[in-house]
Amino acid sequence: MLQPVKDTFQATHYPDLLVGLDSADDAAVWRLDNQRAVVLTTDFFTPVVDDPYDYGSIAAANSLSDIYAMGGKPFLALNIAAMPPNLPAEITSQIIRGGAEKARQAGVIIAGGHTVQDKEPKYGLAVLGFVHPDHILTKGGAKPGDFLALTKPLGFGVTTTALKREKASDEDIAEVIRWMTELNNKASQIAVACELKAATDITGYSFLGHAWEMAHASRVGLRIEFDKIPFVSCAQKYAQAWTFPGGASDNRLHFSQHVTFSPKIDEASQMLLFDPQTSGGLLLSIPAQKLAIFQKQAATLQQPVWIVGQVIEGNSILVE
Ligand code: CO
Ligand code: CO
Repeated sequence: MLQPVKDTFQATHYPDLLVGLDSADDAAVWRLDNQRAVVLTTDFFTPVVDDPYDYGSIAAANSLSDIYAMGGKPFLALNIAAMPPNLPAEITSQIIRGGAEKARQAGVIIAGGHTVQDKEPKYGLAVLGFVHPDHILTKGGAKPGDFLALTKPLGFGVTTTALKREKASDEDIAEVIRWMTELNNKASQIAVACELKAATDITGYSFLGHAWEMAHASRVGLRIEFDKIPFVSCAQKYAQAWTFPGGASDNRLHFSQHVTFSPKIDEASQMLLFDPQTSGGLLLSIPAQKLAIFQKQAATLQQPVWIVGQVIEGNSILVE
Protein backbone atom coordinates (compact mmCIF):
# COMPACT_ATOMS: atom_id res chain seq x y z
CA MET A 1 0.00 0.00 0.00
CA LEU A 2 2.93 2.32 -0.58
CA GLN A 3 2.29 5.47 -2.59
CA PRO A 4 3.59 5.08 -6.14
CA VAL A 5 6.72 6.97 -7.14
CA LYS A 6 5.44 9.81 -9.27
CA ASP A 7 8.43 11.76 -10.50
CA THR A 8 10.45 9.04 -12.18
CA PHE A 9 7.80 7.64 -14.51
CA GLN A 10 5.11 9.25 -16.61
CA ALA A 11 1.89 7.26 -16.77
CA THR A 12 1.24 8.65 -20.26
CA HIS A 13 4.29 6.69 -21.51
CA TYR A 14 2.52 3.48 -20.50
CA PRO A 15 -0.99 3.56 -22.01
CA ASP A 16 -1.62 -0.08 -21.06
CA LEU A 17 -0.97 0.62 -17.38
CA LEU A 18 -4.64 1.25 -16.58
CA VAL A 19 -4.16 1.60 -12.81
CA GLY A 20 -0.82 2.23 -11.16
CA LEU A 21 1.46 5.22 -11.12
CA ASP A 22 -1.08 8.01 -10.81
CA SER A 23 -3.44 6.63 -8.21
CA ALA A 24 -3.07 4.93 -4.85
CA ASP A 25 -5.37 2.04 -5.73
CA ASP A 26 -5.43 -1.50 -4.32
CA ALA A 27 -3.46 -3.14 -7.15
CA ALA A 28 -1.78 -2.35 -10.45
CA VAL A 29 -3.66 -3.18 -13.67
CA TRP A 30 -2.01 -3.77 -17.06
CA ARG A 31 -4.05 -4.20 -20.26
CA LEU A 32 -3.12 -7.18 -22.42
CA ASP A 33 -5.83 -6.64 -25.05
CA ASN A 34 -9.41 -5.34 -25.22
CA GLN A 35 -10.76 -8.31 -23.29
CA ARG A 36 -8.10 -8.93 -20.69
CA ALA A 37 -5.93 -7.07 -18.22
CA VAL A 38 -3.69 -8.47 -15.49
CA VAL A 39 -3.97 -7.29 -11.88
CA LEU A 40 -0.88 -7.49 -9.69
CA THR A 41 -0.52 -6.98 -5.95
CA THR A 42 1.52 -8.05 -2.94
CA ASP A 43 1.11 -7.89 0.81
CA PHE A 44 2.76 -9.56 3.82
CA PHE A 45 2.83 -8.95 7.57
CA THR A 46 3.78 -10.25 11.01
CA PRO A 47 1.53 -12.76 12.85
CA VAL A 48 -1.85 -11.45 14.02
CA VAL A 49 -2.94 -14.67 15.77
CA ASP A 50 -1.10 -17.45 17.66
CA ASP A 51 -2.02 -20.41 15.46
CA PRO A 52 0.45 -20.69 12.54
CA TYR A 53 -2.06 -22.30 10.17
CA ASP A 54 -4.65 -19.57 10.81
CA TYR A 55 -1.96 -16.91 10.37
CA GLY A 56 -1.03 -18.33 6.96
CA SER A 57 -4.66 -18.54 5.97
CA ILE A 58 -5.40 -14.93 7.03
CA ALA A 59 -2.27 -13.61 5.28
CA ALA A 60 -3.29 -15.34 2.04
CA ALA A 61 -6.91 -14.13 2.22
CA ASN A 62 -5.60 -10.62 2.85
CA SER A 63 -3.16 -10.73 -0.08
CA LEU A 64 -5.85 -12.00 -2.45
CA SER A 65 -8.22 -9.28 -1.30
CA ASP A 66 -6.61 -6.47 -3.31
CA ILE A 67 -7.30 -8.43 -6.53
CA TYR A 68 -10.95 -8.81 -5.51
CA ALA A 69 -11.13 -5.11 -4.60
CA MET A 70 -10.25 -4.31 -8.23
CA GLY A 71 -12.94 -6.64 -9.58
CA GLY A 72 -10.33 -9.20 -10.61
CA LYS A 73 -10.06 -12.96 -10.43
CA PRO A 74 -6.76 -14.19 -8.95
CA PHE A 75 -5.10 -17.26 -10.49
CA LEU A 76 -1.39 -17.41 -9.65
CA ALA A 77 0.65 -16.47 -6.58
CA LEU A 78 4.09 -16.67 -4.99
CA ASN A 79 4.88 -16.95 -1.28
CA ILE A 80 6.85 -14.15 0.35
CA ALA A 81 8.19 -15.22 3.74
CA ALA A 82 10.67 -14.12 6.36
CA MET A 83 11.29 -16.67 9.12
CA PRO A 84 13.53 -16.63 12.22
CA PRO A 85 16.34 -19.20 11.87
CA ASN A 86 15.34 -20.84 15.17
CA LEU A 87 11.64 -21.24 14.28
CA PRO A 88 10.75 -24.97 14.22
CA ALA A 89 10.29 -26.23 10.65
CA GLU A 90 6.87 -27.57 11.62
CA ILE A 91 5.63 -24.04 12.42
CA THR A 92 6.90 -22.67 9.11
CA SER A 93 5.26 -25.48 7.18
CA GLN A 94 1.93 -24.88 8.96
CA ILE A 95 2.03 -21.18 7.98
CA ILE A 96 2.77 -22.08 4.36
CA ARG A 97 0.08 -24.79 4.38
CA GLY A 98 -2.50 -22.34 5.75
CA GLY A 99 -1.67 -19.97 2.89
CA ALA A 100 -1.69 -22.71 0.25
CA GLU A 101 -5.05 -24.14 1.30
CA LYS A 102 -6.67 -20.69 1.39
CA ALA A 103 -5.25 -19.96 -2.06
CA ARG A 104 -6.58 -23.28 -3.36
CA GLN A 105 -10.05 -22.39 -2.04
CA ALA A 106 -9.76 -19.21 -4.14
CA GLY A 107 -8.77 -21.24 -7.21
CA VAL A 108 -5.22 -19.92 -7.00
CA ILE A 109 -2.02 -21.94 -7.40
CA ILE A 110 1.02 -20.94 -5.35
CA ALA A 111 3.82 -21.67 -7.79
CA GLY A 112 6.87 -20.98 -5.62
CA GLY A 113 8.20 -18.00 -3.71
CA HIS A 114 11.07 -16.73 -1.67
CA THR A 115 12.04 -16.94 2.00
CA VAL A 116 14.63 -14.90 3.87
CA GLN A 117 15.70 -14.95 7.53
CA ASP A 118 14.38 -12.30 9.88
CA LYS A 119 13.84 -11.88 13.64
CA GLU A 120 10.04 -11.78 13.42
CA PRO A 121 8.06 -14.00 11.01
CA LYS A 122 6.48 -12.30 8.02
CA TYR A 123 4.29 -13.97 5.45
CA GLY A 124 2.11 -13.08 2.49
CA LEU A 125 1.68 -13.50 -1.24
CA ALA A 126 2.41 -11.76 -4.50
CA VAL A 127 -0.72 -12.38 -6.56
CA LEU A 128 -1.56 -12.18 -10.24
CA GLY A 129 -5.16 -12.01 -11.46
CA PHE A 130 -7.22 -11.22 -14.51
CA VAL A 131 -9.82 -8.50 -14.91
CA HIS A 132 -11.86 -7.29 -17.86
CA PRO A 133 -10.48 -3.84 -18.77
CA ASP A 134 -14.02 -2.40 -18.93
CA HIS A 135 -15.04 -3.76 -15.52
CA ILE A 136 -12.26 -2.59 -13.22
CA LEU A 137 -13.36 -1.41 -9.78
CA THR A 138 -11.36 1.54 -8.44
CA LYS A 139 -11.61 3.98 -5.56
CA GLY A 140 -12.59 6.70 -8.01
CA GLY A 141 -16.06 5.69 -9.23
CA ALA A 142 -18.38 6.66 -6.35
CA LYS A 143 -21.23 9.07 -7.23
CA PRO A 144 -23.50 11.17 -4.97
CA GLY A 145 -26.67 9.17 -4.27
CA ASP A 146 -24.83 5.81 -4.22
CA PHE A 147 -25.28 3.56 -1.21
CA LEU A 148 -22.20 2.39 0.71
CA ALA A 149 -22.01 -1.31 1.50
CA LEU A 150 -19.59 -3.13 3.80
CA THR A 151 -19.12 -6.91 3.56
CA LYS A 152 -17.36 -7.79 6.84
CA PRO A 153 -17.76 -6.34 10.33
CA LEU A 154 -15.06 -4.18 11.97
CA GLY A 155 -13.09 -4.71 15.19
CA PHE A 156 -10.29 -7.10 14.14
CA GLY A 157 -7.37 -4.87 15.17
CA VAL A 158 -8.63 -4.07 18.66
CA THR A 159 -9.34 -7.79 19.23
CA THR A 160 -6.03 -9.19 17.95
CA THR A 161 -4.17 -6.56 19.98
CA ALA A 162 -6.12 -7.69 23.07
CA LEU A 163 -4.79 -11.19 22.23
CA LYS A 164 -1.20 -9.88 22.08
CA ARG A 165 -1.74 -8.36 25.55
CA GLU A 166 -3.22 -11.68 26.74
CA LYS A 167 -6.59 -10.08 27.41
CA ALA A 168 -8.69 -11.79 24.72
CA SER A 169 -10.94 -14.81 25.20
CA ASP A 170 -10.69 -17.86 22.90
CA GLU A 171 -14.25 -17.36 21.61
CA ASP A 172 -13.54 -13.76 20.62
CA ILE A 173 -10.38 -14.79 18.78
CA ALA A 174 -12.24 -17.59 17.02
CA GLU A 175 -14.87 -15.08 15.87
CA VAL A 176 -12.36 -12.68 14.30
CA ILE A 177 -10.35 -15.55 12.75
CA ARG A 178 -13.54 -16.76 11.04
CA TRP A 179 -13.99 -13.35 9.45
CA MET A 180 -10.34 -12.69 8.61
CA THR A 181 -9.95 -16.03 6.81
CA GLU A 182 -13.09 -15.33 4.74
CA LEU A 183 -12.30 -14.50 1.08
CA ASN A 184 -13.71 -11.37 -0.56
CA ASN A 185 -14.36 -13.40 -3.74
CA LYS A 186 -18.16 -13.51 -3.61
CA ALA A 187 -18.56 -9.82 -2.79
CA SER A 188 -16.26 -8.98 -5.71
CA GLN A 189 -18.09 -11.33 -8.09
CA ILE A 190 -21.43 -9.70 -7.26
CA ALA A 191 -19.95 -6.21 -7.64
CA VAL A 192 -18.66 -7.09 -11.10
CA ALA A 193 -21.93 -8.78 -12.10
CA CYS A 194 -23.82 -5.62 -11.07
CA GLU A 195 -21.28 -3.50 -13.00
CA LEU A 196 -20.39 -1.38 -9.99
CA LYS A 197 -17.58 1.15 -10.46
CA ALA A 198 -16.13 1.86 -7.02
CA ALA A 199 -14.69 -0.51 -4.45
CA THR A 200 -11.82 -0.88 -2.03
CA ASP A 201 -10.93 -3.29 0.74
CA ILE A 202 -10.75 -2.28 4.39
CA THR A 203 -7.25 -3.01 5.70
CA GLY A 204 -4.51 -1.16 7.58
CA TYR A 205 -5.80 2.38 7.10
CA SER A 206 -9.09 1.45 8.85
CA PHE A 207 -12.69 1.90 7.74
CA LEU A 208 -12.46 5.70 7.76
CA GLY A 209 -9.01 5.80 6.12
CA HIS A 210 -10.07 3.64 3.20
CA ALA A 211 -13.47 5.35 2.99
CA TRP A 212 -11.62 8.66 2.80
CA GLU A 213 -9.40 7.33 -0.02
CA MET A 214 -12.57 6.47 -1.93
CA ALA A 215 -14.18 9.86 -1.19
CA HIS A 216 -11.02 11.69 -2.22
CA ALA A 217 -10.46 9.70 -5.43
CA SER A 218 -14.15 10.10 -6.37
CA ARG A 219 -14.29 13.79 -5.34
CA VAL A 220 -17.36 13.23 -3.17
CA GLY A 221 -18.39 13.30 0.48
CA LEU A 222 -19.74 10.38 2.52
CA ARG A 223 -22.45 10.20 5.17
CA ILE A 224 -22.01 7.21 7.48
CA GLU A 225 -24.68 6.02 9.93
CA PHE A 226 -22.81 4.70 12.96
CA ASP A 227 -25.72 2.52 14.09
CA LYS A 228 -25.66 0.64 10.78
CA ILE A 229 -21.96 -0.27 10.96
CA PRO A 230 -21.39 -3.96 11.80
CA PHE A 231 -18.88 -4.90 14.50
CA VAL A 232 -17.68 -8.26 15.77
CA SER A 233 -19.47 -9.05 19.04
CA CYS A 234 -16.44 -8.27 21.24
CA ALA A 235 -15.42 -4.99 19.54
CA GLN A 236 -17.03 -2.61 22.06
CA LYS A 237 -15.65 -4.56 25.02
CA TYR A 238 -12.06 -4.27 23.80
CA ALA A 239 -12.58 -0.70 22.61
CA GLN A 240 -13.68 0.28 26.12
CA ALA A 241 -10.56 -1.52 27.48
CA TRP A 242 -8.62 0.52 24.87
CA THR A 243 -6.57 -2.36 23.43
CA PHE A 244 -6.14 -0.51 20.14
CA PRO A 245 -2.99 -1.16 18.11
CA GLY A 246 -0.64 1.80 17.52
CA GLY A 247 -1.90 2.03 13.94
CA ALA A 248 -5.33 3.17 15.17
CA SER A 249 -3.81 6.36 16.63
CA ASP A 250 -1.78 6.89 13.45
CA ASN A 251 -4.94 6.53 11.37
CA ARG A 252 -6.84 8.97 13.59
CA LEU A 253 -3.98 11.47 13.34
CA HIS A 254 -3.94 11.15 9.53
CA PHE A 255 -7.61 11.01 8.67
CA SER A 256 -9.60 12.75 11.44
CA GLN A 257 -9.21 16.12 9.67
CA HIS A 258 -11.55 14.72 6.98
CA VAL A 259 -14.15 13.37 9.42
CA THR A 260 -16.90 15.02 11.49
CA PHE A 261 -18.48 12.88 14.21
CA SER A 262 -21.87 13.44 15.75
CA PRO A 263 -21.35 14.27 19.48
CA LYS A 264 -23.38 11.18 20.48
CA ILE A 265 -20.52 8.90 19.31
CA ASP A 266 -18.07 8.37 22.19
CA GLU A 267 -14.30 8.31 21.76
CA ALA A 268 -13.91 4.51 21.93
CA SER A 269 -16.58 4.09 19.24
CA GLN A 270 -14.89 6.70 17.06
CA MET A 271 -11.58 4.88 17.53
CA LEU A 272 -13.17 1.63 16.28
CA LEU A 273 -13.59 3.35 12.91
CA PHE A 274 -9.84 4.11 12.87
CA ASP A 275 -8.93 0.55 13.92
CA PRO A 276 -6.57 -1.11 11.37
CA GLN A 277 -8.15 -4.24 9.90
CA THR A 278 -6.33 -7.29 8.64
CA SER A 279 -8.20 -8.99 5.80
CA GLY A 280 -11.25 -6.74 6.18
CA GLY A 281 -14.24 -6.69 3.88
CA LEU A 282 -14.95 -4.68 0.76
CA LEU A 283 -16.42 -1.19 0.81
CA LEU A 284 -18.63 -0.85 -2.26
CA SER A 285 -20.41 2.14 -3.74
CA ILE A 286 -23.73 1.00 -5.19
CA PRO A 287 -25.94 3.21 -7.42
CA ALA A 288 -29.47 3.42 -5.98
CA GLN A 289 -31.07 1.66 -8.96
CA LYS A 290 -28.72 -1.34 -8.52
CA LEU A 291 -29.15 -1.76 -4.77
CA ALA A 292 -32.05 -4.24 -4.89
CA ILE A 293 -30.38 -6.55 -7.42
CA PHE A 294 -27.10 -6.35 -5.53
CA GLN A 295 -28.79 -7.35 -2.28
CA LYS A 296 -30.68 -10.16 -4.00
CA GLN A 297 -27.50 -11.65 -5.46
CA ALA A 298 -25.71 -11.29 -2.12
CA ALA A 299 -28.54 -13.19 -0.41
CA THR A 300 -28.36 -15.93 -3.05
CA LEU A 301 -24.60 -16.39 -2.52
CA GLN A 302 -24.97 -16.01 1.27
CA GLN A 303 -22.68 -12.99 1.20
CA PRO A 304 -23.35 -10.72 4.20
CA VAL A 305 -23.85 -7.05 3.28
CA TRP A 306 -24.45 -4.05 5.51
CA ILE A 307 -25.58 -0.72 4.05
CA VAL A 308 -23.70 1.79 6.20
CA GLY A 309 -24.33 5.13 4.53
CA GLN A 310 -24.50 7.10 1.33
CA VAL A 311 -22.30 9.07 -1.01
CA ILE A 312 -23.07 12.81 -0.94
CA GLU A 313 -21.76 15.97 -2.56
CA GLY A 314 -18.82 17.42 -0.67
CA ASN A 315 -15.29 16.62 0.37
CA SER A 316 -15.46 15.12 3.85
CA ILE A 317 -16.99 12.29 5.85
CA LEU A 318 -19.86 12.77 8.30
CA VAL A 319 -20.45 10.04 10.87
CA GLU A 320 -23.90 10.40 12.42
CO1 CO B 1 -2.79 -3.92 0.10
CO1 CO C 1 -6.39 -2.79 -0.54
